[in-house]
Amino acid sequence: QFFLNAIHSKNIDFVVIGPEAPLVDGIADFLRDHGIVVFGPGKLGAKLEESKNFSKTIMMRAGIPTAQFQKFTKADHAIVFIENSDWKDGYVIKADGLASGKGVIVTQNKEEAKKAVYDMMLNNDLGLSDTTIIIEERMIGPEVSVFALVDKNTFKTIGNACDYKRIRDNDEGPNTGGMGTYSPCEWLTQEDEVFINEKVFAPLVKQLEIENIDYNGVIFAGLMKTDQGLKVLEFNVRFGDPECQTILPKLKSDLLDIFTACCNKKLNETEIKS
Ligand code: AMP
Ligand code: GLY
Repeated sequence: QFFLNAIHSKNIDFVVIGPEAPLVDGIADFLRDHGIVVFGPGKLGAKLEESKNFSKTIMMRAGIPTAQFQKFTKADHAIVFIENSDWKDGYVIKADGLASGKGVIVTQNKEEAKKAVYDMMLNNDLGLSDTTIIIEERMIGPEVSVFALVDKNTFKTIGNACDYKRIRDNDEGPNTGGMGTYSPCEWLTQEDEVFINEKVFAPLVKQLEIENIDYNGVIFAGLMKTDQGLKVLEFNVRFGDPECQTILPKLKSDLLDIFTACCNKKLNETEIKS
C-alpha cells in the first residue's frame, strides 16, 4: 500500500524494478494487479535468480548448456556424493537461495568441497534460513555477461560485458559480484553471440512459455567459455551491477522506448541499436 500511495500521489505510470529482492517478493505482480505498467518479472520469473536449483532445472529441461549439478538438503548426502564422484577440476558449492553474491564457494578438490559443505550446511556460515545447496562441476574459462530484454514471446540481446571479480588491485583477493567492468567483451566472437542467442536465450524463452511463466523484463546470463564451448553459470532477473554501467551508456536507442515496447510485448517489432 505504501508503494501504491507513493505511485498515485506522484502520478507515476511506469515502474522499473531494479534489485532482485522485491522482484522475488512479487512486487511486479502486485503493481500489475493494480493497473500499473511494470518493467520486471513477476514472482515466478524471478525464481530464475531466487533459486539456483530452479534455474538449473529450467536449463536442463530446455537443453541449455550448463555445468552438471546435484541438489542436497542434507550435508551427509552431499559428502557421500562428493566422495563417490570424480569431477577432476573441482566442485562449486552454491547456496540455493539469494545470498547477495556470497553464496558460491569454488573449490579445487574433494577436501575443499567437503569443508565448504560443512561451512554452508552445518555451521551455516552465511546465516541462511534454508541451507539447501547445489553442487556443480567446476568449469574453467573466461566469463562474460550478456543482457537480453524479454517479453512473453521474444528476446533481444542488448550487449555484453566482462567484469573484474577479485576484490583487490592486481586481480588479487577473494571473488566479488564485480569490482569493475568493460564492454564489449574482447574475446566474444560473432559465432559465440549467435550461439548465445540460439542455444541459450531462444530455448530459455521457449521453456518459460512452456512453464507458463509470463516473463517481462531483462535477463542477465552469466556464461563461461570452457573447452567444450560456452556454458551458462547463472541467470539474474535484473540489470546486474557493475555490468549495467558499461552496457547501458552504449545503447543508441532510447531506453524508455525499449522498455515500453517490452512491456507492450512489441519487442519483435522494435529495433534496438547497441
Ligand atoms: P553464480 O552466482 O552462480 O554466477 O556464481 C558466481 C561466480 O562463481 C561466477 O561468476 C563464477 O566466477 C563462479 N562459478 C559459479 N559456478 C561455477 C562453476 N560451475 N565453475 C566455475 N566457476 C563457477
Ligand atoms: N555482477 C553480477 C550481479 O549483479 O549479480
